[in-house]
Amino acid sequence: SKLPDLLRKAPKAELHIHIEGSLEPELIFKLAQRNGVALAYPNVEALRAAYAFTDLQSFLDIYYAGASVLLKEEDFFDMAWAYFERAAADNIVRAELFFDPQTHTARGVDTGIVIRGLHRACQRAQSELRISADLILCFLRHLSEEEAFATLEAALPYRELFIGVGLDSSEQGHPPEKFERVFAKCAELGLHLVAHAGEEGPPDYVRSALDVLKVERIDHGVRSLEDPALVARLARERIPLTVCPLSNIKLCVFPDLSHHNLPKLLDAGLCAMLNSDDPAYFGGYLNDNLVQTFEALPQLGARQAYQVLRNSFEASFVPAERKQAWI
Ligand code: ADE
Ligand code: ZN
Repeated sequence: SKLPDLLRKAPKAELHIHIEGSLEPELIFKLAQRNGVALAYPNVEALRAAYAFTDLQSFLDIYYAGASVLLKEEDFFDMAWAYFERAAADNIVRAELFFDPQTHTARGVDTGIVIRGLHRACQRAQSELRISADLILCFLRHLSEEEAFATLEAALPYRELFIGVGLDSSEQGHPPEKFERVFAKCAELGLHLVAHAGEEGPPDYVRSALDVLKVERIDHGVRSLEDPALVARLARERIPLTVCPLSNIKLCVFPDLSHHNLPKLLDAGLCAMLNSDDPAYFGGYLNDNLVQTFEALPQLGARQAYQVLRNSFEASFVPAERKQAWI
């Protein structure tokens, strides 16, 4: 079949990539050495061998440890630039990058260092790789709403350098309702709003992300399928779901790709597209997600390939006129 090759070569948008999750073990060791940070693993192979996850939390523990090597503006630039070079190879023409300031401010790294380093990489991606790129600041949901407000406050001097906010980290036990007031404030500031929901958490978290946080997209959302009324609403309102198949397998949301519910999401008429989530940890970038998922699921053919690529642009936060040129 020619489909894998078409998937690889087609222009596409990536809307769900945690930039800290693109930090490859080789770069973790290089930055550790550059910054004099001690790691709990003796070498790249030992670190990579620890990437065996049983659920979201088991991943998050090692993901936050990996980010501990990021201290200087240049480190954030180098991390994002490495992602953009891979994105260009995958024919990504639009990328919306999540970043977690609280992971860094907790280690004494100033928010400005984080945002300026990432922003410089976005600018260079545009000028050298012709990738349109923007940043989305994520609040860590295992922390308090008060801490989210403090994070927003610290980021406001850089308001023009990010386009929206998201909600990530441990989902179970941290419902969207916890962040109602800070999301309302972000809406007043004209920021785009997204949230992780229905990855490990129940369909009710998807509903409250929409009703309480008023998000425009749901990150993951795969558990929505357990609730037919919710699915009907997502289809009717054309709420995008940023689906991450390899992530879902590595975090044991589905036993393997042949059991992923992407075909059912598309059959229900949902605006779903594929994304890599944390590619350095989950064994693949965007084209790996596309090719492996379409190979594992015989129900997915050319029609669905066109649909997910088109959905990636429809769901992106670019001005309508520029979107039209891609679709
Ligand atoms: N942070 C990085 N990746 C994440 C994911 N898949 N879910 C929640 N928080 C995350
Ligand atoms: Zn994610």
